[in-house]
Amino acid sequence: MGRLDGKVAIVTGAAKGIGAATSALLAEEGASVVCTDVDTAAGEAIADAIQNNGGRVTFASHDVTKEADWERVVALAIESFGGVHVLVNNAGVAPSGAPIEDLELSEWSKTIAIDLDSVFLGCKHGIRAMKQSGGGSIINISSIMGLIGSPNAADYNAAKGGVRLLTKVAALECADAGYGIRVNSVHPGFIDTPLVRNAVEGGVTAGRMGSANEAIEMLTMLHPIGRLGFPKEIANAILFLASDESSFMTGSEMVVDGGYTAR
Ligand SMILES: NC(=O)c1ccc[n+]([C@@H]2O[C@H](COP(=O)([O-])OP(=O)(O)OC[C@H]3O[C@@H](n4cnc5c(N)ncnc54)[C@H](O)[C@@H]3O)[C@@H](O)[C@H]2O)c1
Repeated sequence: MGRLDGKVAIVTGAAKGIGAATSALLAEEGASVVCTDVDTAAGEAIADAIQNNGGRVTFASHDVTKEADWERVVALAIESFGGVHVLVNNAGVAPSGAPIEDLELSEWSKTIAIDLDSVFLGCKHGIRAMKQSGGGSIINISSIMGLIGSPNAADYNAAKGGVRLLTKVAALECADAGYGIRVNSVHPGFIDTPLVRNAVEGGVTAGRMGSANEAIEMLTMLHPIGRLGFPKEIANAILFLASDESSFMTGSEMVVDGGYTAR
């Protein structure tokens, strides 16, 4: 018996990092998974690997900032697998990396669109679909940067802080309406994914950091547990929130950060 048998899940940003690990784990635990991403080639490869491993999966090209894409993806989940019970709002981008005084409005708006508007659209269309499916669980991927500030990350901090409170509003609205839909946020520390590796490379190129190795060492030191996290460690937390094991949790913020915010 899988922990998600009979459930249908949508995972955004499924082509890489945390989204790829989560898609694989939810499928292993019995969910039918709709993997979505703007990176079609990498997303299809992840879906193929899950299918070859015996999972029930389909891939959809999906820009999370576009409402029409959300309508198409939710319709695909219902048509392919019969409903929507789990939604993981995971797709995201790293901060632009500039201090507020140098941050272009266009860079700010891009991060807010991909990291925050997307979660609003996901909650909106996820709630509508889950009502018809008898309830469900929405998991919004925020960050430790949704709890604490960080210089040169105003766009990302604002988006991830917004995700934290948007989650609580969605949780309260669903509870008040008696929809049987729970909504929680996850707040990872630094996880070894392409997002972090690319941000480090970008920082080195722009002269904000020394070598990539030095930068990773510096990030590692911020985690009392003594290392960065693995994508599977965030996927495990998401699985718990997706499953009925977390049935008394809604509006919660689950911090998975190797002790980063404990100091
Ligand atoms: N890696 C970390 O240290 C870390 C820490 C805290 C929070 N997070 C959050 O976790 C989530 C996943 O991060 P990751 O590290 O796995 O990143 P990643 O870059 O490895 O993967 C993110 C995926 O999102 C996709 N994506 C980007 N823009 C998109 C769009 N407009 N529409 C659809 N898909 C889009 C990318 O193609 C990519 O496949 C993000 O929301 C990120 O902010 C990551």
